[in-house]
Amino acid sequence: MALKKLVAGNWKMHGLSSDLAEVKAIAEASEAYPAVDVALCVPAILIERASRAVPGFAIGGQDVHFAEKGAHTGCVSAQMLLDAGATLTIVGHSERRDAQREIDADVRAKAEAAVACGLGVILCVGESLEVREAGEAIETVSTQLDASLPHGDASTDRLAIAYEPIWAIGTGKVPTGQDIGEMHTALRQRLVAAYGDAGRSVRILYGGSVKGSNAGEIFAVPDVDGALVGGASLKTADFMPIVEAAAAANG
Ligand code: 13P
Repeated sequence: MALKKLVAGNWKMHGLSSDLAEVKAIAEASEAYPAVDVALCVPAILIERASRAVPGFAIGGQDVHFAEKGAHTGCVSAQMLLDAGATLTIVGHSERRDAQREIDADVRAKAEAAVACGLGVILCVGESLEVREAGEAIETVSTQLDASLPHGDASTDRLAIAYEPIWAIGTGKVPTGQDIGEMHTALRQRLVAAYGDAGRSVRILYGGSVKGSNAGEIFAVPDVDGALVGGASLKTADFMPIVEAAAAANG
């Protein structure tokens, strides 16, 4: 059975008060596509204003700390995200794994903290170009997933995975449909190994240079249950064709 598609925007370090109009425009345009879950993960400082501006629309964070509270200067807890109006958060994005040196154990702890608070989680995994060229992408990403997944069956309700090949992020390069399909099938097997049947209902998103022009082709790949979109999520005119393609792929 096909899962309901999720199209989530990751605004990364983009967005000021003046961009709340874009959040509103995306939320309003998304109402025309009830068969697709749409979300925007905005900078932490915009979450509260964004969620007030678009009640009922899913606003998310881009990271969360694994601790409940404490001496963690500059960090944001799961409870703080919820308090600000977020309903989900990204964890383990490759830009954080790289620049903030987050390892799989950190990502797992963050996912567990977020899920325990009732937040949805988009957990990112993906290989470098070097790993892809060495023919080790599936093995590497599967290992990364195994070590990053939150423990416990209950977490599957609120969990999505985003496969984001690092070399495809912001580059305009996209793996072939076959490569995406092989990876998503492998990740599905890992999810079933970890959670049993419940692993079949965890959505696996693709991320990396998704645009209106390639979204239809990507959504046609088996086991692609949505997309995590960077650059093309900043403007309604770029983002909505991706949502529309997801709706069309739902059939
Ligand atoms: P782009 O869509 O800009 O390639 O970014 C993908 C991404 O990193 C989403 O998290």
